[in-house]
Amino acid sequence: MDQVMAVTGNVFWVGVNDRETQRFENLWPLDHGISYNAFLVRAEKNVLIDSVKALTQEDHFRRIAELLGPGNKIDYLVINHMEPDHSGAIPWLRTHYPEMRIVGNVKTLDFLERFYGIRENIVKVADNDVLDAGGARLRFILTPMVHWPETMMTYLEEQKILFSGDAFGSFGALNGVLFADQQDDRDQYLNEMLRYFSNVIGRYSDMLQKALVKIKTLAIDCIASTHGPVWRRDLDQLIALHDKWSRHETEPGVVIAYASMYGHTLQLMEAIVASLGRCGVGRVMVHDVVNVHPSYIVRDIWKYRGLILGTPTYNMRPFPLIEDLVSLLDNKRMKNRLLGVFGSYGWSGGGVKQLVDFAAAGAERWQLVEPVVEAHCAAGAEDFARAAELAANMAGRLGKQD
Ligand code: FEO
Repeated sequence: MDQVMAVTGNVFWVGVNDRETQRFENLWPLDHGISYNAFLVRAEKNVLIDSVKALTQEDHFRRIAELLGPGNKIDYLVINHMEPDHSGAIPWLRTHYPEMRIVGNVKTLDFLERFYGIRENIVKVADNDVLDAGGARLRFILTPMVHWPETMMTYLEEQKILFSGDAFGSFGALNGVLFADQQDDRDQYLNEMLRYFSNVIGRYSDMLQKALVKIKTLAIDCIASTHGPVWRRDLDQLIALHDKWSRHETEPGVVIAYASMYGHTLQLMEAIVASLGRCGVGRVMVHDVVNVHPSYIVRDIWKYRGLILGTPTYNMRPFPLIEDLVSLLDNKRMKNRLLGVFGSYGWSGGGVKQLVDFAAAGAERWQLVEPVVEAHCAAGAEDFARAAELAANMAGRLGKQD
């Protein structure tokens, strides 16, 4: 039983750790792996909550088989989320547990057919329906677009456990312990939780807000996401963090994301950093987009109110990796941020102008902080003065929190 970790007396983690996949969704680096969480509820009926990614099912199956013992069956599989990191093993599970009935809402069942051709042995549920497994009542709470249209949460009434789907998840494998309060490096864990939120869930913040309203009515003792540790303590903190992030509430501080080709944009960046330091704006995070994966930059931008983007002009456009970052920011639908822009050009401008256009196009989300700073070739005294003015204005706006 060394592979099995208990949430409570009759609820067990039967997920897997994935330490092989390099990038989640083939996009986001997994520095410390990731877990695909699934849970087995043992009652008169055995209920599996979620499954795992295809090709990781051996550990999943071993844990389930250990718990069930020979001859026992899974009566129900509840699918909170159909993304293949949680559903890929379903066809395989069905070959081992052919009597297993699959529980999902109308959108789940549509995905189930389209992904896996499964149409039989299913139980369709609606918002607030209850499945009575005999000593385990499971209530289904539909939470669309957290993170796909079919996403829902399942609430185990007896133990007050909320199986929350992707909500409240985190990157990082489970290193021998199940609970968030057992994490030995709390800062690393919370950073990875924000990186997961900002890159995977953040775009759907409005829908998470709706979900938070729905679960507010529940008495919750434990939150078990599809990724990362289970929370059994400090639930108010967990919910408050996600409430804050999904409201786009930020902290004082500035992220500078820049690129430089021959050091001229870099010089302006250093001037801005020095001025921000003199102004005392709080935390200043500097990211060279050439060396830092955008998921870390997005994480920090989600946290802090100020963003300053710096770019040289490259073929009359921003430096390509800055352009990629801006596209990603647009995709994430952040709002309530201050944006400063600086850069340089040699024979043709265009890069800085397009960053200004980006701010103007999203004016309800990005408030441009003047002046825009752009050096023609090497920065001169006037450019450095404008850089200092930009930093001072950013500091002033942060101080006012307008
Ligand atoms: Fe963990 Fe949206 O899948």
